[in-house]
Amino acid sequence: MRVEYAVEFSIKSISPERAKTGCLVLGVHAGGALTRAAQLADRAARGALRAALAQGDLSGKAGSTLLLRGVAGLAAERVLLVGLGDENELGESAYRDALRAAANALKELGARDALLYLAETKPAGRDPAWSVRQAVLAVSEAFYRFDQLKTQKKALPPALAAVTLAQSAGPVTRAAQGALAEAAAVAQGAELARTLGNLPPNICTPSYLADEAKKLARRFKLAVEVLERRDMEKLGMGALLAVTRGSHQPPKLIVLRYHGAARTKKPVVLVGKGITFDTGGISLKPAGEMDEMKFDMSGASSVLGALAALAAMKAPVNAIALVPTCENMPGGGASRPGDVVTTLSGQTVEILNTDAEGRLILCDALTYAERFQPEVVIDVATLTGACVVALGHVATGLFANDQRLADEIRAAGEESWDRVWQMPLWDDYQEQLRSNFADMANIGGRPAGSVTAACFLSRFAKKMRWAHLDIAGTAWKGGREKGSTARPVPLLVRFVLRHARVK
Ligand code: BES
Ligand code: MN
Ligand code: ZN
Repeated sequence: MRVEYAVEFSIKSISPERAKTGCLVLGVHAGGALTRAAQLADRAARGALRAALAQGDLSGKAGSTLLLRGVAGLAAERVLLVGLGDENELGESAYRDALRAAANALKELGARDALLYLAETKPAGRDPAWSVRQAVLAVSEAFYRFDQLKTQKKALPPALAAVTLAQSAGPVTRAAQGALAEAAAVAQGAELARTLGNLPPNICTPSYLADEAKKLARRFKLAVEVLERRDMEKLGMGALLAVTRGSHQPPKLIVLRYHGAARTKKPVVLVGKGITFDTGGISLKPAGEMDEMKFDMSGASSVLGALAALAAMKAPVNAIALVPTCENMPGGGASRPGDVVTTLSGQTVEILNTDAEGRLILCDALTYAERFQPEVVIDVATLTGACVVALGHVATGLFANDQRLADEIRAAGEESWDRVWQMPLWDDYQEQLRSNFADMANIGGRPAGSVTAACFLSRFAKKMRWAHLDIAGTAWKGGREKGSTARPVPLLVRFVLRHARVK
């Protein structure tokens, strides 16, 4: 995976009128109220910005833009005015819209560099570091392209190579510098996760994921180990092995470790569901949109991306990415509804639906995670369609057997604006997993499908502080914008940092 159109980020304090840049990016509120940087530029340009606004070409709505060229009195070649909406009601999502719109407008220009004053403005209650992080992530997301499989590249890559987050006054704080470095690393990890998600299932196989993990290990000096089918057989991972049975691709269990803190410090273990294609198996899925089941390894790509980000920023933490990965295919050798298998934990499971395969590979991975004596374990999985019904494409579903852990994850989600919503894990739901023929069934019926899936996993996490993130609705977008979102990479990195009190 190459990072092809990477934008270089920096941060500095400079007054906008003096700045020699390809494009000045300045915020404007609804009703034409100028931000501080825009006021300074307007004064130097003898009111040219206000005059342009007076023509009514910029609504001021968050995400609207207006481009001016050759403004007399300014050293910049272009000025991009960006609407920030109502000054007193700037919310996080509107702010992100404005950043995205600015980045998309920059993509269309011939400017080589840009000076972005938008990180100076922030939603109420947010610190400047927050705006810096959001700006870096929004710009790098807008500049992401996945055209490696197109023979005719549609357009030239954007000219923009460098973006400076600028502030019109005061010194650049260490907090802002730190936020920039952190965000650039998160952007890199998110880019990796996004590309792995977008790659087609005939390329991004379990072996491909294992090779990517090995590449990351070489690049960032991480420890990597890949368990093969025979290792799983010896260990007794009957659930994972049941899922891979119908596939011609060999399954893998990837262990990627980053040590940034003392060896004695217990690691955070991030477990990612790595189904590189989910047909449903013998309980075959309907044909419509089945291609999107290539994204069923988004848990895996997000934990690999999070680890890459932590390593890139040299975070003083210990973290492990644990990725059970295989395909879920039908075939003569495939598992049947009614099969009973013995998991690594020793508990038996009646597979009533082969399409509930995520929990089967995760349960063995969770048991395997015990050997790392984790500080906490978080699994990340595109686990249930029911979670999409419950929370849509906005919030990731959160389940935990420890309320303090849940609260920390929720807070990390708010901080990174990669939000989660907690769902119940009450014992009352466990009885839906009752089986006449084994310790439990792998499905719990239609009611509360994402809760019973989490209940199933909870039976394999009893000895650990554990949380489960159902990213079925948030890991990718369908339709015209089809593609991976790289969620929850920002959330995971923020969680690990704040849990280690790195801030
Ligand atoms: N990978 C799917 C979940 C999924 C479906 C995510 C659609 C995003 C969109 C998972 O393996 C699955 O098939 N779950 C089943 C579980 C059911 C059989 C209990 C589901 O949600 O239908
Ligand atoms: Mn499935
Ligand atoms: Zn699946």
